[in-house]
Amino acid sequence: MAERHEFIMAPGPTEVPPEVLEAQLELPYHRGPRFGAVIKGCVEALQRILFTKNEILLYTGSGSLGMESAIVNLFSPGDRILVADTGNFGERFRKIAQIYGVDVVAIEYEWGRNAQPADIAKALDGDPSIKAVLVQHSETSTGIVNDIEALGAVMRDRPQLFVVDGISGIGAAPLRVDDWGVDVLIGGSQKALMTPPGIAFVTVSDAAWKANETATCPRFYTDWQTALSSHRLDPAETPYTPAVTIFRAFAKALAMVEEEGIENAWKRHAVLGKATREGVKALGLDVQTEESDKACVLTAVVAPEGIDGAKISKHVREKFGIIFAPGQGRLKGKIFRIGHCGYYAPRDILMALAALESSLQSLGFPVKEGAATSAAANVFRENGLA
Ligand SMILES: Cc1ncc(COP(=O)(O)O)c(C=O)c1O
Repeated sequence: MAERHEFIMAPGPTEVPPEVLEAQLELPYHRGPRFGAVIKGCVEALQRILFTKNEILLYTGSGSLGMESAIVNLFSPGDRILVADTGNFGERFRKIAQIYGVDVVAIEYEWGRNAQPADIAKALDGDPSIKAVLVQHSETSTGIVNDIEALGAVMRDRPQLFVVDGISGIGAAPLRVDDWGVDVLIGGSQKALMTPPGIAFVTVSDAAWKANETATCPRFYTDWQTALSSHRLDPAETPYTPAVTIFRAFAKALAMVEEEGIENAWKRHAVLGKATREGVKALGLDVQTEESDKACVLTAVVAPEGIDGAKISKHVREKFGIIFAPGQGRLKGKIFRIGHCGYYAPRDILMALAALESSLQSLGFPVKEGAATSAAANVFRENGLA
């Protein structure tokens, strides 16, 4: 048989709806009313989806560029920040900040555990020189979703900025920027927002703009003031040449998110997560995330004793053309990750679990074939989706 499209069930890049791919087929000039409307449309749709009135800046680049933009636009070398480090992407925040000479205090959580509001409160009480708290919304290396509402409540009457990496969580897990007191939220196009990779964005609160006025970390491409001045032109622009086609795709994908309704999208992701967890557990496997009831972005599955997690993903990919993500960092080989953020439906989960059951059987880990799909189908039925 001719080679078929490999179906991505990794937590990004994710599958993209055909309408979104099609939207890339026109290439308007990047300075002028047609493209200006695309930028304005993306900003306004994001403001509605994220429940914020804050300015939103769009960059051509991947999510990490958005993370770097937050560090360099908010801080000066020698400033002290607190990173609630729950995994690989918490580590990335630390690394970026350290490269710019920012002094990082970290609370290191065991991978698979959530950041605890009481720990943040204690750290801030103990060190008033801390200027900001940085945390992941969804920590993609372990599958946990941090409770941003509860963490935001701790930050509410404090002077520190609250900076959240929502790159994999936005669109999948609940998030209300203004109500929850998030000063800077960082996002990317290629996960639950169903768009090819290529766009990073940040929301910036008044307090964050104020910090930006005095921040002296060196910056050029990601300078927030420069980006804002261009977005405010009529027609709106970006300072440097943007990934025009991806911006068009992003506008279409955001319209599709709004068509579904963001709260409905959160509910769908919660059901997809629960069905995947129940399916995996029905095979006798553990999920990595202890606090997993909110794990709606991806399911991190602990590989059975004696089988490397990467071997399972390799088998599923080679035999079934489905891509699971391997473990990252210290979880390399120990887990594999089934992504279900974005353009996914019950049929995709059933297909992935069927492929997993068969692959485990082939790799010498005996499972009851049908157990995972049946457990997942029960969850879908309970929620009126099957
Ligand atoms: C939570 C989180 N933060 C940051 C990143 C980095 O994003 P990118 O690979 O788009 O630079 C990712 C990517 O997987 C992520 O999941």
